[in-house]
Order: sequence, then C-alpha cells, then structure tokens
Amino acid sequence: MSKKRVLSGIQPTSDSFHLGNYLGAVKQWVELQDSHDAFYCIVDLHALTVETDPALLRQRTLASAAQLLALGISPEKSTLFVQSQVPQHNQLGWIMECMAGFGEASRMTQFKDKSAKAGSDSARVGLFTYPMLQAADILLYQADLVPVGEDQRQHIELTRDLAGRFNARYGQTFQLPEAYILKAGAKINDIQDPTAKMSKSSGSVAGVIEIMDTPEANLKKIKSAITDAGREVTFDPIEKPGISNLLTIHSALSGRTIADLENEFAGKGYGDFKAGVAEVVVEYLRPIRQRALDLLSDEKHLIEILHAGSAKAREVASTTLEATYKGLGVVS
Ligand code: TYM
Repeated sequence: MSKKRVLSGIQPTSDSFHLGNYLGAVKQWVELQDSHDAFYCIVDLHALTVETDPALLRQRTLASAAQLLALGISPEKSTLFVQSQVPQHNQLGWIMECMAGFGEASRMTQFKDKSAKAGSDSARVGLFTYPMLQAADILLYQADLVPVGEDQRQHIELTRDLAGRFNARYGQTFQLPEAYILKAGAKINDIQDPTAKMSKSSGSVAGVIEIMDTPEANLKKIKSAITDAGREVTFDPIEKPGISNLLTIHSALSGRTIADLENEFAGKGYGDFKAGVAEVVVEYLRPIRQRALDLLSDEKHLIEILHAGSAKAREVASTTLEATYKGLGVVS
C-alpha cells in the first residue's frame, strides 16, 4: 500500500520560529516524515498579507528553511518547498475563492481577529482570502493529514467543506484532508501571559521562546516566566495556567510525563521548577540553533534544496490542477 500523504505549511513572518510552532506543528512534521509521504511548504505568499520588507522576506524565507532542516526535516524523506515557486497554489487558490461563500469566509476567527487588530482600512483583501489559498495548498497535494496547532483547525474544516463541495459539483477530484492535532502542544501559551497563545505577531517579546534566540536570552526569559498563586507544581490549566504551560513545554521536550514532573518538583517551589524547565529548553534548542546558523551560512546549498523540493511539488500540483480544470470544463 502506498504511504499516506501529509502536507503542512509555515509562514516566514519572523526571524525565528517559536516553541509554539515547534511543539504545535513542526515536531509532528518530523515524526510523520518517516511513515508518510510528506510535503512541507514555506508559505511566503501568505506572509504578504501583512506589510513586508523585501530584504526581510528573503532572509526569513531562508531562515525558515534552515530552521526546518535543523529541527529535523530531511530533504531525502520530505519534499520541502517554497509556495511562490509552485504557481499552481495561486491558480487553485482562485478556484477555491470561487467555491467559498462570503459568509463562511467572514466567519474565520483568524480573519476576524487579525482584521479587527489592523482596522478595516488597513486590513488587506489577502487577509480575507488567506484561508482559500491555504485550502489550495492542502488540496493540490491530495493530503490525507495536515499536522497543525489548534489555531488552524477551522481552516482545515473549511478546506474539507470546499473540497467536498467541489467534488459533489464537478466529480471526485480532491482527497478530504484531516487535521492532525496532538493534545499536548496543540496550544503553547505566552510565558508572560499564559492565557494567550504564544504568537509571533501578538506576543510580547519576553513571552515568546524563540528557537534562534541565544541560550542566555532564553534562560533569562524562562526564569522570568510568570507563575501562579500557590506554591505547588501541579497541572491545572484553569487555576495554574502559567505552571501548566511550563509543564507542557517540559514534558514535550523531555519526553517525560506530566505526573512524573509533578513528582520530581513536589515541595520544591516555582523557582526550582523554572530553573529545571529552562535547562531542558535551553539544552534542547542549543544544537538546533547552531545547526540552523551553519546552514544559513551556505545560502546556495539551501536554495538548491528548496529548488529541488519545489520541482517535485510542481509535478504533483500540476496533476491536480489539470484534473480540477478538466472537472470545471476549462478548455485545454
Ligand atoms: P503559522 O505560520 O502561524 O504557524 C505554523 C504552525 O505553528 C502552529 N502554532 C502553534 N501551535 C501551538 N501553539 C502555538 N502557540 C502556536 N502558534 C503557531 C500553527 O498552528 C501552525 O500549524 N495558516 C498557517 C500556515 C499555512 C498552512 C497551510 C498550514 C498556510 N498554508 C497549509 C497547514 C496547511 C499559519 O499561519 O501557520
């Protein structure tokens, strides 16, 4: 039996990915590449929905590739590519826009949040059509699974709806994808405001653990993480959101159970606990950051990897686009 297909994407909107990106998504990408036919995409077109600086976009696209490789994505196992190098994404994106209702697109919570923040005069039309381009990203590859964090669930549901609608009207064309969202790590919170998700766009600098930050900076951040009332290190996301978030992070990186960690830190207080979490995070990220820096020092090699990935992606994407056009009755 042939392997099931996985696709996911990440925006190059920051100099560094953060722990939420890794634990919510990329860690699963790495695991799934062994058992699945994996396609992973740096979604640079999606990044254009906010103001971008040309030099920064280029730098961040390459930094994204370097980090994904450093985190364990292997170009031998996975197809790692850049969205803008596969024009079929825009082409199917338009068709998905024509399949989507204005009402259902208006109900996307990420659109509502981001456009409210930007204000209606500065929010881009691309922010509104963003989920339909994301649907195209997924459907072009006939993906069975889409490993993402909880905040993407609604976009995957929309993708399923659009695919189902197209199939019903024009004949079976698209695989209906399923969101692959692990319980632990699905939502990593800001360590200064543990009721809000860790985020590149809205998080405070002090609340976001960045993969490319120096070990010293991350050590300091985690030691200054906000804690909760009480003194016991116990997992209780309602009463102790700060401690619970740190327990989740420790557990995901150390591979130890939450119960085991609660035992270890019983009676020890929050200071010792934060020092323990800091050590785990810093030592986990130290070699990854170094690998990413090494990879970034050879841009030519990085670009070759991305070109090879994009060429493979175009083959799959063009087959799906042809079938889509045929279904629609487009004269070829
Ligand atoms: P992006 O670039 O914002 O984030 C990349 C991945 O990281 C996850 N994530 C988190 N998970 C847990 N806790 C957090 N605090 C946290 N913050 C981010 C996201 O859920 C995501 O999986 N729309 C997507 C990019 C995209 C895409 C796609 C994803 C474009 N096309 C096709 C899957 C399939 C996004 O903005 O991710």
